[in-house]
Amino acid sequence: METAKMYQLPKLKYDYDAPAPVISEDLLRLHHDKRHAAYVNGANTILQMMNKSREDQADVDTRATFQELSFHIGGHLLHSLLWEHQQTA
Ligand SMILES: [Fe+2]
Repeated sequence: METAKMYQLPKLKYDYDAPAPVISEDLLRLHHDKRHAAYVNGANTILQMMNKSREDQADVDTRATFQELSFHIGGHLLHSLLWEHQQTA
């Protein structure tokens, strides 16, 4: 069985200080490098767990798993949209 594709933290297409003063460099680093990265890592951790459960033919709590996965993927997609449409100086 094919394994799920993992998510990746996208690189910004501009410098961290480019959107200032709309968003400061420190705040952009926090949201991109920490928070967005946490959503990506969280989604990938769940996907890896799901892959392992398939390999082991082990049961998972699908409701809780998909709820948590959608939370992380949602955070990843919303941050990706913001980075794509962020105004820069
Ligand atoms: Fe954020």
